[in-house]
Amino acid sequence: MRDLEANLQYEYMDKVRGYVKQQEEQIGRPLTFYVKTFGCQMNARDSEKLVGILENIGYVEGEDEHADFVVYNTCTVRENANNKVYGRLGYLQNYKKKNPIMKIALCGCMMQEPEVVENIRKHYKFVDIVFGTHNIFKFAEILCNNFESGSQVIDIWKDTDQIVEDLPIKRKFSFKSGVNIMFGCNNFCSYCIVPYVRGRERSREPKDIIREIEGLVADGVCEIMLLGQNVNSYGKNLDEPISFAQLLREVNKIEGLKRIRFMTSHPKDLSDELILAMKECDKVCKHLHLPLQSGSSRILKIMNRSYDKEKYLDEVKRLREQIPDIALTTDIIVGFPGETEEDFLETMDVVKKVRYDSAFTFIYSKRTGTRAASMSDQVPEDVIKDRFDRLLKEVQTISAEKAEQYEGKVMPVLAEEMDDQKDGYVTGRLDNNSIVHFPGDSSMIGNIYNVRLDECKGFYYMGELADA
Ligand code: 5AD
Ligand code: SF4
Repeated sequence: MRDLEANLQYEYMDKVRGYVKQQEEQIGRPLTFYVKTFGCQMNARDSEKLVGILENIGYVEGEDEHADFVVYNTCTVRENANNKVYGRLGYLQNYKKKNPIMKIALCGCMMQEPEVVENIRKHYKFVDIVFGTHNIFKFAEILCNNFESGSQVIDIWKDTDQIVEDLPIKRKFSFKSGVNIMFGCNNFCSYCIVPYVRGRERSREPKDIIREIEGLVADGVCEIMLLGQNVNSYGKNLDEPISFAQLLREVNKIEGLKRIRFMTSHPKDLSDELILAMKECDKVCKHLHLPLQSGSSRILKIMNRSYDKEKYLDEVKRLREQIPDIALTTDIIVGFPGETEEDFLETMDVVKKVRYDSAFTFIYSKRTGTRAASMSDQVPEDVIKDRFDRLLKEVQTISAEKAEQYEGKVMPVLAEEMDDQKDGYVTGRLDNNSIVHFPGDSSMIGNIYNVRLDECKGFYYMGELADA
């Protein structure tokens, strides 16, 4: 049974479908859309929801920004994410001059910042629709308002506790899918804007999650990624509390599902219960993304991360004791306010000790409204650049060594699609997400094979079936 809100949105979709049809008849061809996603996996999943609604109301997918309806689903985690959007809006304005029926919508995290919305209202009047992260489920309604009023519609909510199930979704990949298990974040790391733009933590009911995954599996999905800003605190505030480890065990039971991934874990509460669940659930990939951010206990404290260097290293030790071959990846920020050379060397020390399979490295970006933004001791740019280069070199050297270490080994690979470079080959992925090309045909897609990794080519491997 759909809830009331979903029913209402389906009514709006019916209405907008009529407007789309009218325009189609006027111009004598179908209307096209183009959704561009910035940012993380959460945003990618949100975009699939937008595309689901757009296709439901009769738009067809276009190739690029020359489409009749362009939607930018934005990110604001770092300043350059915002700059990219402003940069591209200039081009869109020109396209719109040539195509009077063109619509432009902006949504996502950046739209939850009041100064951004003010700027768009004042200086980007050609943008038709602006909405945020909390009311994305109202996309059809907002679009309907725009069709009916013919003027700019801005609809931003500060927060919500609503979770609307059962709206249309169009997956980007046939064989894999993200699945939201929770929304928002309560951590307030001092550098991070996410809690301000994604609101407070709310978990979905396990039964809704399981039902969604069962539906996906019936539709050909063999790999899912459970998505949340901090999955370790999943379920704590539900009427019937359940832990993330318990949820993993439930999802692991779903027949036909082959692989389970999840993002993101916070090191402050990585429980032994979760480590054990990862170890015991055969479908859970032996891979953990565990953002370090900094290796300095002093900086971690100012970042409000609620763990120190020792606790983090102890977690890695506990993980490797239970799952010796686990792949570890991380996020690291360089140049947080007040970071000294000694602090930075602590980060380098953790990197050398943990030896990550890969690491995303970021230069600290000051985000208005966060606590770190008002800290006075910002690190000079040239110092940051120097540290960033040293860190990147270390991270890349270790990644390459780790990748080579797997050469010659036999590892499970999920065949995902036909190789578009080489005839008679399929492309698949290891637990740690690395790409492997090996001989095969389309009947193998969606199955896991033991593949010998003959040759490591940096970012990918060439392999062959081990038992062929
Ligand atoms: N500056 C730089 N990097 C940031 N991240 C989050 N906020 C900032 C910021 N203000 C990074 C963190 C996080 C990843 C998604 O983005 O490393 O884990
Ligand atoms: Fe994702 Fe955060 Fe960017 Fe939003 S701001 S898209 S939650 S990374």
